[in-house]
Amino acid sequence: MSQRVYKVIFINGDGIGPELMTSALTVLRSVESKFRSVKFDIDFHPGGAEYFKETGINLNPATLKAIKNAHATMKGPVGLPDVRFPDGTEAGVLGGVLRTGLDTYANVRPVRLLPGVEAPIKADPGDVDYVIVRENTEGLYLSRGKGVQTDTAAADTLMITRKGTERVVRRAFEIAEKRQGAPADGMKRVTCVDKANVLPSMAFFRRIFNEIAEDYPHILAEHIYSDAAAQALVLNPGHFDVLVMENFLGDILSDLGGATVGGIGLCASGNVGDKHAYFEPIHGSAPDIAGLDKANPISQILTLAMLYDHLNEFDVSTAIRGAINDALVSGELQINNLGQPKGGTTNAGELIAARI
Ligand code: IPM
Ligand code: MN
Repeated sequence: MSQRVYKVIFINGDGIGPELMTSALTVLRSVESKFRSVKFDIDFHPGGAEYFKETGINLNPATLKAIKNAHATMKGPVGLPDVRFPDGTEAGVLGGVLRTGLDTYANVRPVRLLPGVEAPIKADPGDVDYVIVRENTEGLYLSRGKGVQTDTAAADTLMITRKGTERVVRRAFEIAEKRQGAPADGMKRVTCVDKANVLPSMAFFRRIFNEIAEDYPHILAEHIYSDAAAQALVLNPGHFDVLVMENFLGDILSDLGGATVGGIGLCASGNVGDKHAYFEPIHGSAPDIAGLDKANPISQILTLAMLYDHLNEFDVSTAIRGAINDALVSGELQINNLGQPKGGTTNAGELIAARI
């Protein structure tokens, strides 16, 4: 029997990272015993804040090289609040090296209401299903590790480039092309989220969005200001299909979107460029609950599903999402109003693995 073997890199990360990755691994083992034709050859690498404390760097250059040579990478959340650079920013987060460094310019963040989850918005599963495409290499985050500071002032620069915008907007339309449209009306739609009423850089973003949209006449293209988007994502989420936006706006609105569907502990993401890709939950390392078997592994398990999607192994990703759904629908897996699984992290992973 022929087997498709993929080289993947796993980075456990900080805080709740290791326990989430262990749950994802439990699901992976179950996947591999069912789908014999798909196999991961996994290399574990360290990285993040604990690693920075030990070594003075957050990622080894050898790890970066391994990631470049692998089919894909999955990481847990990284960063610890007390591990900081002299400028006050966190030293353990890996976006600088993995997002900018690997030019993974599209941060793809699906927001989907799952069955059986006590979400703060009133909606049925299926009514909320959109994808935030966050620009990942520039915008306000261009200032990462840079910026200007004196004793009395600090400034960060938000930069939008034509190239950076064209490619992320194109990616958003390509994602819309493959989807079934917005839940409310079935229309394929890409929404440009910006602050073009105030910031010239954002008016530039919008202009480029309009240019690229012309290449996709069969997909609706629309604009919304970012403040109005924060409201609309709560009051009218079913309208949205794919949204594309600047880096910092995407950071904020993806947490907001996650909250509406029951918490960011249920939210996965992919960082995708033309050459490289890596996958991670959208949330942080939650050191306050680390090691307590409280964290929700669904974010990490959905992250694993996104990784299989990326490898075009859709039977596997569909099975993983199906197992999560079944576990939730049956009531066997319950999520409390803090977004945490009632029987604990390990139990949740095992329940999902058993349903593959
Ligand atoms: C995210 C995270 C990161 C970000 C942090 C950890 C630097 O919040 O992936 O959304 O701000 O991009
Ligand atoms: Mn964030």
